[in-house]
Amino acid sequence: MRFRFDHDWFKAKIQWTVGEKAGVPLRGGRHMSRAGFSMRTEIRFFLNGRSRRVEGIAPSTTMLDWLRSEGLTAVKEGCAEGDCGACSILFGTPAADGQSMKWRAVNSCILMLPQADGRAIVTAEGLVDADGKPHPAQQGLADAHGTQCGFCSPGFAIALAALSRQPARDDETILDGLAGNLCRCTGYRPILDAARALPVVGASPDEAVMVAALRGDCSEPLDYRAAGRRFVAPHSLDVALQVLAENPEAWILAGGTDLGLRVTKRHEEPACVLSLAHLPELHEIRRETAETVIGAAVSYADALDAVGALAPSFGRMVRRIGAAQIRAMGTLGGNIGNASPIGDSLPPLIALGATIETVSGDGRREIPVEDFITGYRKTELKAGEIITAVRVPTPGPQTVVHVYKVARRVDQDISAVSAAFALDVEDGRVVGARVAYGGVADRPLRARPVEEALIGRSWTLETARAASPAVRASVSPIDDARGSAAYRQAVCVHLLERLWWETAGPADVPSTLDALEAVA
Ligand SMILES: Cc1cc2nc3c(=O)[nH]c(=O)nc-3n(C[C@H](O)[C@H](O)[C@H](O)COP(=O)(O)OP(=O)(O)OC[C@H]3O[C@@H](n4cnc5c(N)ncnc54)[C@H](O)[C@@H]3O)c2cc1C
Ligand code: FES
Ligand code: FES
Repeated sequence: MRFRFDHDWFKAKIQWTVGEKAGVPLRGGRHMSRAGFSMRTEIRFFLNGRSRRVEGIAPSTTMLDWLRSEGLTAVKEGCAEGDCGACSILFGTPAADGQSMKWRAVNSCILMLPQADGRAIVTAEGLVDADGKPHPAQQGLADAHGTQCGFCSPGFAIALAALSRQPARDDETILDGLAGNLCRCTGYRPILDAARALPVVGASPDEAVMVAALRGDCSEPLDYRAAGRRFVAPHSLDVALQVLAENPEAWILAGGTDLGLRVTKRHEEPACVLSLAHLPELHEIRRETAETVIGAAVSYADALDAVGALAPSFGRMVRRIGAAQIRAMGTLGGNIGNASPIGDSLPPLIALGATIETVSGDGRREIPVEDFITGYRKTELKAGEIITAVRVPTPGPQTVVHVYKVARRVDQDISAVSAAFALDVEDGRVVGARVAYGGVADRPLRARPVEEALIGRSWTLETARAASPAVRASVSPIDDARGSAAYRQAVCVHLLERLWWETAGPADVPSTLDALEAVA
């Protein structure tokens, strides 16, 4: 990707003086915080290769609305809730190598404008290179007759441009990369043809300059205020906790894939948003022998390898959370903080015996995931407390871990029911079991009666079937658009039986669609 590169304002740094009074504006888009350090008051990012700074726009303005107000109308509003991809943009984060940007497609309709701070944004207009040549994604769509309408095509061009950065691509990765984009005329075949013919596009040398510019000139934390509202993106936990202590009503924002909808659908305007995007501790992944620690603000896309290494079926489940645009921004911390009864990561985390690390002014705490959610969208989190990480113990060699998501579609769909099992089986006997369900109560739950019905028994089909009453007793689903209570209960019963077929059933009986296709 080559940009029309313009980086003048970064060069024109304005001097400021340490020691001015707190709250007094400093020159050059800065002011002093109460703690006595300088914070930036303007949002700085790259837009289509040009550096931009923004002031005076309400912080909850979506990137979609702002881009369109700037005349960049390739982004369209289809659903305004992250489902259709018509608003897709490339979101670039400085990569760890310090030389390139990590480009991912995201939904601009649920992205708050200040979330772009320290990042780079590319719209379909900006994919065209400095000489006016279309990006291979755009040319490929045209060549394959994939540009069927002006509404979805810009979003597809962005999704393809994100895919073009992936060196190893097969049909699965292509479908993964396009699943977040809806073609309303269902003309997917030519779009897939364009994706299959897409060359790999490497990093341009301009990206190293962009990384250096963003790192240098966004080195101070952002404290953005406009329209009587505030968006703070601290660089240290101490400052984050201080902001939270002073603004107990502040929204804690990780990826914003849940909170963004409160803005676009419920028209809420938070007085203060505390962004976790620039807190290094919350972006770390530590893979140790006994456990994996995943920072609360690590995106699903970045956590995927670590999660898949813990348990491949947990990785497959994470790959089914939303679509690529959602996984690029959404986080485990947000899924836990949101405390939805259908939060997909929660049953596997409960089954794996994961714990949540938190920090507040009173110090650090560690809480088992199963105890953290206390009711419908209620958690153990106290005012002023932030989730910092999730600690997931490594399953033992004898532990069978299986995670299921039952939804009406493979991609971009919310679970009707989910289930996670971690069974320790020794010499054909169940010696330990952790079982959890989602979508069947006011919260994701650990099903201890099911575990008791399994432990100490031979791992046979009879044992799985005999546990049915315990399954029924553990869950109390409701009827809704995704399924009736009776359907959900039946699915929970069948998933335990399916677990047996998949883990201990005869090898010549295919128990999954993949196995069935392999036999056929
Ligand atoms: C189109 C679409 C599809 C989706 N599909 C799925 C799906 O298939 N499965 C699924 O489970 N979810 C799905 N979601 C919901 C959402 O993507 C997930 O819940 C995601 O994990 C939220 O993470 P986030 O970082 O975006 O959270 P945010 O929106 O930033 O925050 C969510 C909540 O958690 C709180 N929070 C976030 N981080 C912290 C922290 N570190 N400490 C304390 N509180 C915190 C926030 O204050 C907020 O209340 C979907 C959403 C959309 C829009
Ligand atoms: S408008 Fe549909 S995903 Fe943004
Ligand atoms: S490309 Fe827009 S309707 Fe199919």
